[in-house]
Amino acid sequence: MEQLLQKIEQYKNEIKESIAESKDEVEAFRIKYLGTKGLVKTIMGEMKNIAAEQKREAGQLLNEFKVFVEEKFEGLKTASASDLQEDAIAEMDLTLPGTSDSIGSRHPISIIQNKIISIFHRLGFSVAEGPEIEDDWHNFSALNLPENHPARDMQDTFYILKNPDWLLRTHTSSVQIREMEKGKLPLRIICPGRVYRNETISARAHCFFNQVEGLYIAENVSFADLKQTLYFFVQEMFGTDVKVRFRPSYFPFTEPSAEMDISCLICDGKGCNVCKKTGWVEILGCGMVHPKVLDNCGIDSNKYTGFAFGMGVERITMLSYQIKDLRLFSENDIRFLKQFAPVT
Ligand code: DAH
Repeated sequence: MEQLLQKIEQYKNEIKESIAESKDEVEAFRIKYLGTKGLVKTIMGEMKNIAAEQKREAGQLLNEFKVFVEEKFEGLKTASASDLQEDAIAEMDLTLPGTSDSIGSRHPISIIQNKIISIFHRLGFSVAEGPEIEDDWHNFSALNLPENHPARDMQDTFYILKNPDWLLRTHTSSVQIREMEKGKLPLRIICPGRVYRNETISARAHCFFNQVEGLYIAENVSFADLKQTLYFFVQEMFGTDVKVRFRPSYFPFTEPSAEMDISCLICDGKGCNVCKKTGWVEILGCGMVHPKVLDNCGIDSNKYTGFAFGMGVERITMLSYQIKDLRLFSENDIRFLKQFAPVT
């Protein structure tokens, strides 16, 4: 027993002094002391020479020794790892350019939609939103498109349920109705959002796209106000060189109705495929809100008038960035997406 104690003390001193400067030396330490033929195993073997009454004490001593060796081994391991790290840093060429992370970019539709919102914001319009799943009243009937009205065929509708009709909204005009029904006047809103139509997907059409609807209801709102608002929008959106024209049109929810064209940004009005050789591209529909629509929403059409307009965000984005295929917006091709302004 006395002998064993001495041996342990001696080994402990030796181990305390041990150093390891590399992974290999740490491994050598492990093999020497903790391996299957290592010192700890060997010294454990001496238990059989210990007298029975001392076995308990000796067992405890040997266990403590084993823990001591294991702790030293763990210490050497971490020390050598941080040495290695320091060596690696010393060898590193800090003048090399780093690998930069991509921070992503905004989707072109979002960029343009935000720009549209900010332009109207400056004119005092606030943003209103509505549900994409609509009932027949808000998407059609209240907008002066009663059942069996032929104008319903202008928009190929995705129905979720028939009778009572539930559908995917075909335009953001439904949000106009929801806002007017709230009865707070005057009302000056724009409604951005996604709309759905049962159309064959091609470079020029898609079964879902985005619109921004505008609505201004107050006393004495005139067509001149509408024109002035839209002139301002076009100048802010496309610059002062762009020409604008209004054409008479038809929408059940406005009277009179018009469509607004701008001179083609692609060919500068000379005529190309985008403007179908006319030099003009249509960008929105608009008009004075039909008195029947006001009445449907409980607004006194003798007292109040208003204008409304609706534009397709994809069309404006295509013109702004000269994008020729609508499908690019929903395919999520990273080579396309990363060409747009980074997120700031
Ligand atoms: N809702 C129409 C469409 O989707 C666009 C539109 C035209 C909206 C005239 C309006 C408007 O508010 O006054 O084609």
